[in-house]
Parts: sequence; C-alpha cells; structure tokens
Amino acid sequence: MSEAESIENYILQRYDQLCNWQEVGSYYGDSDFLNFGYWTKDTRDQKEACENLMEQLMYYIPDKSGNILDVACGKGETTAYLARTYQADNITAINISENQLVFAKKNAPGVNFQIMSATDLKFEDNHFDNIICVEAAFHFCTREDFFKEALRVLKPGGRLVLCDVLMTLDAERRRESRTEKNYLDDLQSYRQLMENSGYQNVEIDDITEQSWRQHYWYAVKYFHAQFLAGKISEDVLIERLRPTYSRVPDMMYYLKGAGQKPA
Ligand SMILES: C[S@@+](CC[C@H](N)C(=O)[O-])C[C@H]1O[C@@H](n2cnc3c(N)ncnc32)[C@H](O)[C@@H]1O
Repeated sequence: MSEAESIENYILQRYDQLCNWQEVGSYYGDSDFLNFGYWTKDTRDQKEACENLMEQLMYYIPDKSGNILDVACGKGETTAYLARTYQADNITAINISENQLVFAKKNAPGVNFQIMSATDLKFEDNHFDNIICVEAAFHFCTREDFFKEALRVLKPGGRLVLCDVLMTLDAERRRESRTEKNYLDDLQSYRQLMENSGYQNVEIDDITEQSWRQHYWYAVKYFHAQFLAGKISEDVLIERLRPTYSRVPDMMYYLKGAGQKPA
C-alpha cells in the first residue's frame, strides 16, 4: 500500500469514528463543523468560532461571483456556509469519505458533492473562480501536489484560500494522518512552497493564538464542565480530550492564507 493510501485509510477510519461520537456533535453546537475555528474575545462557543473562521477565509476572496470548490468539505458545514454567499449550483465540494458526504448532502442541498482526493482533482483546467480548503491540507499526500492541482483547475486570477496546521518534524513522522513529506519549519517556508507551486500575491497569516490555543482552552473547559456536571464519565472525559492533549507538544503553527493564479 502506498503512503497516500495508508493515510487515506487511517483518515476514513478516524473521521468516521468522530462522526459517530455524540459529544463531538454537541461540542460543535449540533453543527457539523470539524475544525479549531477562529476565536475573538466575544466568541461564545465552538460553532461560532468555526463560523468566524469561514468569515476570515472569505475576506481573502474580494470578488465572490462565479463558482467555488470546497476541498475536504468534511460533513458539509463549511459548504453550507458557502451557500450563504454562492448559489448551490455554483458550489462543488469534495471529500474522500463517502460517509461524511451523506451528512454533507443533507447540510447543503443542491451542491455538487463528489468523492475525490485533493491531490487528484477530476476537473478540467481553468474551471473554478476560487477554491477553499479548511483545515485539511496537512493530510494530503502531498500538500505540494494539492497546490499544483488547485492551480491547474483555478481560472487565471482565481484564488486558493485555506487554513492549515504545521507540526514538528517528529509529529509529521509519527502521526498516521500526516506525512513527513509535508514538513515545513515556518510560515516563510509555507509562503515559499505556494510561490514555488506557481501562486502570486501570497498572503500567510499566523493565527495560532486565535485558533489552536483558544480552541484548546475552550475544549478543556467544555469537557471538564460536562464531567463535573455528571454528564460524562471520567473515562469519556479522558477519551474526548486525548486528541487535544496529544497535539500540545506537536503543534507549531496554525495559519490562514491565500494565493492567486497569475492572470
Ligand atoms: C479536520 S477535517 C475538516 C473538515 C471541514 N473542512 C471542516 O472544516 O469542517 C479534515 C477533512 O479532510 C478530509 N480529507 C483528508 N484527506 C483528504 C484528501 N486527500 N482529499 C479530500 N479530502 C480529504 C477528511 O475526510 C476530513 O473531512
């Protein structure tokens, strides 16, 4: 089995398991987002943080006309957010998980959902006005292949807008959902990778504090409150926070950014 196949198999197993955890849905305010979000001092909960993150990413798209591709759309909550701005028939969304797409089709009716990998886009050249990818490019084998595929299917002048996570080299090697091939040591290297892949006007913003760190504190407080109120057992508390705690030594940067295909 290739490295890409083994990562995709792991991801399918892992995310499909997460989809079935009732406390995860409640944590996300009964929405189907699956990301850290963007927190301000007024943000009340995780769902609001996820909506803020979409708002932040949409700022990178000055002209919101035409069509858009949602890459790694999860259970379609990011896609449903796009449907507030775009007509459903101007939105295409892809994911490798058939199970997640079952939820997505309910969340964003009328959207063209397809099972597809981000690194092997089955679209013709110059097809999309813009592409968005929320908290997923670190899974792709490789991120660089995705950048090149996205550039190919973007129309000239179109933008790739995304948020992404950089982890330590040790974590990139150790974690089953990631690959060492995607290791980048800082945000300058990230910008360089986008530029070397053919993008111009690249903007990369460090939002580690507003995203990962604030999400971490909120998740810790949320699940402890559930435990102290007797709603979950100690075992469930540990199980739900294990992925969050395990990221602490591994996280380097959470970034948002965009790049434009030359006109
Ligand atoms: C952290 S979730 C983010 C989901 C959604 N964008 C959101 O913010 O709610 C990562 C998503 O990436 C998807 N994914 C991972 N590798 C992929 C690939 N190679 N191609 C397409 N989707 C992929 C997973 O199935 C999962 O839905």
